[in-house]
Amino acid sequence: MSKPPRNPGDDAPEPGPPLKTPAQTARAGAANPKDSELRASVRAAPAERRPPDKDSPTIIKVTGLHNAFGDAVIHDKLDLTVRRGEILGVVGGSGTGKSVLLRSIIGLQTPGEGTVEVLGEDMIDRTEDEAKNIRRRWGILFQNGALFSTLTVAENVELPIREYFPFLKPPLLDEIASYKIAMGGLPPDAGPKFPSELSGGMVKRAGLARALALDPELLFLDEPTAGLDPIAAAAFDQLILSLQHRLGLTVFLITHDLDTLHAICDRVAVLADKRVVAVDTISNLLALDHPWIQEYFNGPRGRTAAESYYKEGAVA
Ligand SMILES: Nc1ncnc2c1ncn2[C@@H]1O[C@H](COP(=O)(O)OP(=O)(O)OP(=O)(O)O)[C@@H](O)[C@H]1O
Ligand SMILES: [Mg+2]
Repeated sequence: MSKPPRNPGDDAPEPGPPLKTPAQTARAGAANPKDSELRASVRAAPAERRPPDKDSPTIIKVTGLHNAFGDAVIHDKLDLTVRRGEILGVVGGSGTGKSVLLRSIIGLQTPGEGTVEVLGEDMIDRTEDEAKNIRRRWGILFQNGALFSTLTVAENVELPIREYFPFLKPPLLDEIASYKIAMGGLPPDAGPKFPSELSGGMVKRAGLARALALDPELLFLDEPTAGLDPIAAAAFDQLILSLQHRLGLTVFLITHDLDTLHAICDRVAVLADKRVVAVDTISNLLALDHPWIQEYFNGPRGRTAAESYYKEGAVA
């Protein structure tokens, strides 16, 4: 699609790379432009994991981050680097500041100290227009879904598209929304439904569809499988893996779900002691002598997840 024309007097900031049409997205990554076939391929074909090289470019760089609420220090001298093309799992006990870290990275929380660079852009002290241009390049699935309850699934998905491309009208707008809904693994009849009419798993998929609305390079997921039954959670994992593989996404994935970490994450960052104490593959993390890491990955649940994962022959 060539760059969309801008309406005279439209003072929206420059919208960045143009939104791909369904056919373009299909050519670029997915196997087939038809909704039903795309959904089937996303469900049926778990993509191979291809960890990015060690020298892949940095897509997120956090340095010396300090966050506090009153006297409560959440982060202190926190450093983290995310490489382009990886699925980075972020773990840590409840309340250790995973969601606050996500909010700091995406500019919703201004840290007391430190630097945050995303996609080569400094995220601190940006003007609203500058921040809006950067936001255009990522998608977020918040911890609580955060769908607008008074809008249908299709309208929720269309919302970010309308914000950045106000001149796009139906039927193209509807066509893009239904394609994203299919990418989220939902059936076409989910589009006209309201969030209250969906199951928890479908709400997550609708949130994912909205996160994919603007063809992001980077996907932030905050506990996407929380509250899902194990089968739905495994299906969601495979959907993320498949989308990452097909669309070349980088994924920043906060989770407590040990199965997810084993199944789809290239590396895992561990938040403890107010900072990232380690970032590595799970097998390398296991060799570290940190009490929380040992308790988490080598405790009863951690061992069960690892055993079931290795038993299924999911990893070489
Ligand atoms: N806006 C805020 N005002 C005051 N305190 C906050 C605010 N946001 C977060 N906190 C506190 O910061 C700490 C970290 O919160 P955060 O939501 O990042 O935890 P988390 O690691 O994501 O936990 P969980 O795994 O339960 O989601 C918590 O103690 C929380 O109460
Ligand atoms: Mg959280």
